[in-house]
Parts: sequence; structure tokens; C-alpha cells
Amino acid sequence: MDQRQKIDDLIQRYRSAYGVTSTEQTRGLPNEAFVSQTYFEEEQKRLFARSWVFAGTRSDVPEKGDIKPVSVGGRSLLIVRDQSNKVHVFNNVCRHRGAQLVTCELKGRRTITCPYHRWTYDLAGELRVRPHFEGHENHGNIEKEDRQKFGLLPVRFATWHDWIFINLDGKALEFDSFIEPIRSRYSGYPLENCHRGNVAFFEFQSNFKLVLDNWADNYHLFAVHPALDQTMANEDRKSLENVGPHAFCRYGFIGDSDTGIELTRGDVALPRAEGMSEAYQRSGGLGTIFPNIGLFASPTCFLFINMRPLAVDKCQMEVHFYYGSKEAAVDDKYAEARQALEAQWANLNEEDMTICHRTQVGRSCDDFDGGHFAPFWDLAQINLHRQWADAMVGEGLFSAVDQ
Ligand code: FES
Ligand SMILES: [Fe+2]
Repeated sequence: MDQRQKIDDLIQRYRSAYGVTSTEQTRGLPNEAFVSQTYFEEEQKRLFARSWVFAGTRSDVPEKGDIKPVSVGGRSLLIVRDQSNKVHVFNNVCRHRGAQLVTCELKGRRTITCPYHRWTYDLAGELRVRPHFEGHENHGNIEKEDRQKFGLLPVRFATWHDWIFINLDGKALEFDSFIEPIRSRYSGYPLENCHRGNVAFFEFQSNFKLVLDNWADNYHLFAVHPALDQTMANEDRKSLENVGPHAFCRYGFIGDSDTGIELTRGDVALPRAEGMSEAYQRSGGLGTIFPNIGLFASPTCFLFINMRPLAVDKCQMEVHFYYGSKEAAVDDKYAEARQALEAQWANLNEEDMTICHRTQVGRSCDDFDGGHFAPFWDLAQINLHRQWADAMVGEGLFSAVDQ
């Protein structure tokens, strides 16, 4: 049996043993899903190609002529804003002999030129120049239809707010159907009036699935985040609710805090976004987007968090902070308030890093059986593990297996 078949076999055994059992009897994914290099590689090729996955933001390419290379599912891609202000996602590969085109962020460009033989593309992806194509100093013409035919290879993508999601295999269900169950939970939050401030990075010595598991875990607040625990209304403490492939819960804030996490805010409080619903004025929204995104809405800040897999036992948490207005996001007047809020998230992440690493180390125990979930708290985890498994074999919401 080759390595790929072994993964298929492992997942099919997991699905048939636990896919439809009660929440009491189900188990988490087997250890291999968190420690095996082969599993990691297959997961990049399968899960990250079949699902809609986050690739970057429109804020990353704010001006015409901006180009940003990103890597998703082991593929090198480009996010580009062309001269007519349209955003594109392309494979970062030259159509001639396959050289990677861009390796760093670029600004103010009208074209992309391959360093190998200087084929040159415009930012809408059309091939415009092929120097010496027909001999020395004989560049020839590129027929109109060839500009597209040999143009940059586009990637299927869609956006919600600032966030660009891609589907590499082109076969996932329509993006609107995918995202609507979670998007609708945030409909009272006026994201359109929000503006991105800082992006913070944290390296976790754990598999990305364990970090998302932990993000969707309301059970660990007692033990791991005592300060945060003080801000959360008791009646709202339960598992996140599964909404399609995603998960969500709303909870009220208590005590002195009217904004949850923002226990200290400096002298000037951050303004709230215009148009916020009553419900979001005094409550938070904790969510996930399958397969690797965390969300958190508080009255003055919306967090979008990418758990980017770096290795089987390592991931980078990339935290995008969206504030209630452009002023709130960039103005010096609010710098202290932003720093206080962002420092609190950094503290929380420090607390989570340690515990996530322990769940990673725990997977080296051969006798660990995937874990026994707590039905009151872990409904989101149960759903996540099943879906991560489904995606590996092309079942569930994902495209059919076609290998
Ligand atoms: S590989 Fe790009 S121009 Fe030849
Ligand atoms: Fe946590």
C-alpha cells in the first residue's frame, strides 16, 4: 500500500467507526493527522485544494499596481490589483517554462516580467511581450487570442468583506452557499465600515487543527484564561453552534467590561463602527470558518485570524485587527487604545500557545485514541474533526474524489 492509500485507509476507518456515532462515542482524528509528514502533505493537496480557503486580503493590495505573492496549499500564488482597480488571483508561474514570477511584494507596477526569458504580462494576466521570441531581436507579435491563451493562469476566488478565498481545484460548491451560514451570523456587524489596522503574527508549535480546535473551545476559559473568563456571561457558556461547515456563538459581557476583551483601553476609548446592531453593542461573536479561520467580533474590534499551516507540528497565527473606522485603525489618537487591545490578545495567545503545544506533544502517545469529547462543550470540535476527515477523501461538502 502506498502512502496515499494508507491515508485513505486511515480516514475511511475513522469515518466508518466514528462518522455517525453519538457525540459521546465519537473520537477525534487519529494521531497521524497531527504528526505524520505524509498526512500533512496530503492534507495540503486535498483539504486545501478542495475547500474554499483564505488566501489574503484586499487590504494587502490597496493601490492599483500592487502585487502580493502568497502560498496556499503548497501552491505559489499572486494577488494583484490591476490598473482598472480589479483584484485578481493568479498562479505565480510563468507560462513559458514554469518559473516562479514574483518572490516579494511589489507596488506601482503595470506589468509582471519573468526573470528567466522576460516574458511579460499585464496585471489583468494577459501576455504582452515575448522578447526575441522568433530569434535575436525578432520579438514577433502576440496575436490577440494568444494573449489570453498564454496569459497567467487564474485561480477561482471570491471575497467576503476584505477577505479573499480561493478554491484551487475549482470544484467546491458556490462560495455564497459555503460562506452564508457564518456570514449571516455577523450580519449585524457593519464590517463595511471597518478598517484594518495592524496584523500580528504568532508562531504556534502545534498542528493548525489543534489551534483551530482551541479557538472554538469555550471549555478552556476557566483554566487557561482566567481574566477573559471574568467577562463572559454564564448563561452563554456552551459549545459553539455548528452552522454549515463553520461554527458560531454569541455571548454577552458582564462586570465592568462593556466590550469583553478590552479590559484596559487607555484614556481614549476606541469608537464603534457606525451601523452596529443593538445585539453587537454589548456582546461578542466567536466563530470559525472551515477549515482554518477564527473570527471574533467585539463592539470595537473585529478579528480575522488565519491559522496558516507551516509544518505538521507548526502553524502561524495571523491576526488581522479591524477597527470601527479608518481613524480608529490608524490615527495616533487611538494608538494607546489599540496597543492595549492588541496586547491583551497577545497575552491570550501566549496562554493558548503553551496549551496547544501540549495537545501536540500528547499526539506522540501511541495509545491516545483521538480523544473523548465533552458533549456539552465540544460540538464544534466533533463537527470539525468529521469535516477535516471528509475533505481528505472528497466527501461531504467537497468535490468528488477524482484521483
Ligand atoms: S520561464 Fe518565464 S520567460 Fe521563460
Ligand atoms: Fe484560548
